[in-house]
Amino acid sequence: MKITLDNAKCQGHGRCYALAPDVFDSDDEGYAVLRLADGVVPTELESAAQLAADNCPEYAITVER
Ligand code: F3S
Repeated sequence: MKITLDNAKCQGHGRCYALAPDVFDSDDEGYAVLRLADGVVPTELESAAQLAADNCPEYAITVER
């Protein structure tokens, strides 16, 4: 699974880093930062990453399988 964060769409709702703290971090202003350098999600984090994508109100997170 690969995950992409569109920083232009992120409005800082914070659900992603609350639901998947190993996949997302927040910057100083509360916007999401992807913790995975190349966006490739380890198997054990896939369900959390999918949950975060499903719960972003701005559809800023895209999942590729
Ligand atoms: Fe941003 Fe969506 Fe996360 S708006 S902080 S990517 S829940």
